[in-house]
Amino acid sequence: MLNNIKFISADEAVKVVKSGDHIHLSSVASAPKVLIDALMRRGDNGELKDVRIHHLHTEGGAPYTDARYEGVFFHQAFFVGGNVRKNVQAGYADYIPIFLSETQKLYRSGVLPCNVAMIQVSPPDKHGFVSLGTSVDATLAAIECAEHVIAVVNKNVPRAWGDAMIPASMIDYFVECDGLLEPAHFTEPDEIEAAIGKNCAGLIEDGACLQMGIGAIPNAVLAQLGNHKNLGIHTEMFADGVLPLVEKGVINGANKVIDKGKMVSTFLMGSQTCYDFIDDNPMVRMMDVAYTNDPFIIAKNPRVTAINSALQVDITGQVCADSLGTKFFSGVGGQVDFIYGASLSERGKAIIAMPSVTNKGISKIAPVLTSGAGVVTTRNHIHWFVTEYGAVNLYGKSLQERAKLIISIAHPEHREELDKAAFERFGPHYHFIG
Ligand code: COA
Repeated sequence: MLNNIKFISADEAVKVVKSGDHIHLSSVASAPKVLIDALMRRGDNGELKDVRIHHLHTEGGAPYTDARYEGVFFHQAFFVGGNVRKNVQAGYADYIPIFLSETQKLYRSGVLPCNVAMIQVSPPDKHGFVSLGTSVDATLAAIECAEHVIAVVNKNVPRAWGDAMIPASMIDYFVECDGLLEPAHFTEPDEIEAAIGKNCAGLIEDGACLQMGIGAIPNAVLAQLGNHKNLGIHTEMFADGVLPLVEKGVINGANKVIDKGKMVSTFLMGSQTCYDFIDDNPMVRMMDVAYTNDPFIIAKNPRVTAINSALQVDITGQVCADSLGTKFFSGVGGQVDFIYGASLSERGKAIIAMPSVTNKGISKIAPVLTSGAGVVTTRNHIHWFVTEYGAVNLYGKSLQERAKLIISIAHPEHREELDKAAFERFGPHYHFIG
């Protein structure tokens, strides 16, 4: 018993799951491993069939996507993370394309049922509140809509403020387990990523409000911002890269119009140090994704600068960020929410940044997207485009002007063939574009 909470075992708690149910799991570092393991035991015992599992991406294992659970668990995630990628590509698991801002709406509008929400929370405080810690995102909506809420109470879940704080009375079943949250692993930026970071940093003004996407680029950009002033954070996720800038006073939120002086995020993906940083930290508001990712809320702050990455960009500025041809690698996530929000913000900058070539030397800039690739950020949404060779602004530029600008920051070895393709596509007039 802890503050009048009655704990039961994970095996006991997951007995509420019935065949045909939809389950939501809290995301990223906060995936409730002990409940997932108990659920798999019920699957192994032949007690369940056709159970749907939804979540953003999770760190750690995703055993419910294994081929052996075909017909038992059917995984339909809102993002394709590293732990489900192979099984999504093989067809054992599936993906629901959805803007991150709208993941919560799937539950709140009733488009997706939520029979059971499985979450992790901090122990209750003296007021009877627990914190969702590193995962508020669509998890809060799932809790509101679920028939049953099972929470792992874990003293390693940081007591994050904002929408993360919920009354323990919203939870039906409590399971105690103090495992460490799953850390995300990052490598130091290489030479190319550092050059991209520098090119992005050159576009970031003092007083900017930053969103950094997922992948290798964000930390490379943050590493270049040590001499900036009065930066703010309104983002969907952040990781360790922001911590030295907060310590130095570079990130202080002083220029924000909403949430002045605060950092706003909806989930975290970092090391234990990053998770410790938000513990009882009044500077950080962990908020519902309906708030963090609404483009019109994002746009309320001035100089919103959104930096996201891509897998492939064509010479007209169409951005593929979710698949390699037909093979799904990732998801739309919050890329479009923030690219659009930044473009609406006063002096905002929407940036797509990526290396010009893959680690195998293939050009990521292509005459046309690979067959089967989808467009995440459309050519109407793209503004700034950055590689290690520079930064170009495509907003208000014609197709032929865009091709010239994009090719000017392609890898030098690929510029000639790209130029040839542009000439074949647009005709002789293309040569006269300045
Ligand atoms: N052709 C062939 N292979 C390619 C390729 C291309 N055009 N572009 C990338 N690849 C390969 C890379 O070589 C790498 O392969 P490896 O895993 O064998 O090393 C892999 O695809 C991943 O590429 P990389 O550039 O390392 O990806 P990343 O980790 O930097 O992530 C995105 C880039 C686009 C996948 C990521 O930013 C994303 O998921 N974006 C969409 C969601 C989003 O933006 N959300 C917003 C905020 S969270």
